[in-house]
Amino acid sequence: MKAIKLAEPWKISCVELDKPVPKEGEALIRIVTAGICGSDIGAFRGTNGLVTYPRVIGHELAGIIEEIPADNPKGLKAGDRVVVDPYIYCGHCYPCRIGRTNCCTDLHVLGVHVDGGMAEYFCHPANMLVKIPEGMSWVEAAMAEPLTISLHGIHRGGFKEGEFCAVIGAGPIGLAAGMVAQAYGGHAIMLDLVQERLDFAKSVGIEHVINSGKEDVVARIREITNGDMAQQVMECSGANAAIRSTLDYVSNAGRITFTGWPKKETSIPTDLITKKEVDIRGARTSAGEFEEALELIRTKRVDMNRLLTKVVPIDEAAETLIDIEKNPGNYMKVVVQVAADIQ
Ligand SMILES: NC(=O)c1ccc[n+]([C@@H]2O[C@H](COP(=O)([O-])OP(=O)(O)OC[C@H]3O[C@@H](n4cnc5c(N)ncnc54)[C@H](O)[C@@H]3O)[C@@H](O)[C@H]2O)c1
Ligand SMILES: [Zn+2]
Ligand SMILES: [Zn+2]
Repeated sequence: MKAIKLAEPWKISCVELDKPVPKEGEALIRIVTAGICGSDIGAFRGTNGLVTYPRVIGHELAGIIEEIPADNPKGLKAGDRVVVDPYIYCGHCYPCRIGRTNCCTDLHVLGVHVDGGMAEYFCHPANMLVKIPEGMSWVEAAMAEPLTISLHGIHRGGFKEGEFCAVIGAGPIGLAAGMVAQAYGGHAIMLDLVQERLDFAKSVGIEHVINSGKEDVVARIREITNGDMAQQVMECSGANAAIRSTLDYVSNAGRITFTGWPKKETSIPTDLITKKEVDIRGARTSAGEFEEALELIRTKRVDMNRLLTKVVPIDEAAETLIDIEKNPGNYMKVVVQVAADIQ
């Protein structure tokens, strides 16, 4: 079977591998679509310290079950269309025991710690598959995973109807977070340094955009929020300056969630945390949020298609990833059509 594999940083190609054989408790899935993610670019560049090589990439996966244990907990059967929940957890550690499986102390993320599924076939624990609603396209299904990341950040901040969510970083994760905030009946304020990204945010229906390199952000947020500032600030850029600025944009008694992965540590004025009595929370991957993500997509309350730049066949996946790394401004979301004969 074909698979997209990193031999080492900067060396990616489509290789031939043996079709995998499911182990106990696993299902065999014929992969139909697989999204390319910013973290795949990080793995390609060798800048994600968690990735070990060689590594098959791919964690945004949708496919058809070929084989599955009959006693699987969700009653899934061969032929069912599913998405893969790609964060494999131990089930025993403290976070796992309290249901926070996304921050398992022994988390294995596909394409990072273990091989991913940008391949024609893939084996995965049968209890970590979620059925795709009828009528949903394969391309939409592959974009459920990044939506769960955004959704998790929104959930971690306890975002409520009528509130303002300032989102820093208008990439796929930030844009999807803004769309979720609006789907929840709130208002999104999207910040970025790149005007094209903000224009794009406007085009997908984001209510307010601010160029944080050019405008007086605090004054603009104050004006938009009628003086309150943002009840939730969601950091989706990973930039140190952006992380620092969250404390200036958040309302008193507000919440900050950190989704972006910074490369270096950030110095922050903790007196502001006390003064504003801010809740600051990390938001890592997602836990139990695939069903809601799929429902938001199915009902078009969040239209992930609007983030899609293009769909490419698996034979072009490696060269496309190389081009995304070189020209990130030309891309938002790219999905690989792994199975050419299934639309
Ligand atoms: N926590 C998780 O589980 C998780 C999962 C996926 C991605 N991430 C992280 O989320 C972040 C966003 O991912 P993405 O794929 O959307 O990335 P992206 O690179 O496509 O988007 C980031 C955006 O931030 C903007 N930006 C950079 N510096 C900025 C600054 N100082 N102020 C304002 N905007 C700035 C960039 O112009 C860009 O548009 C990344 O840090 C990524 O590593 C985290
Ligand atoms: Zn991803
Ligand atoms: Zn665990």
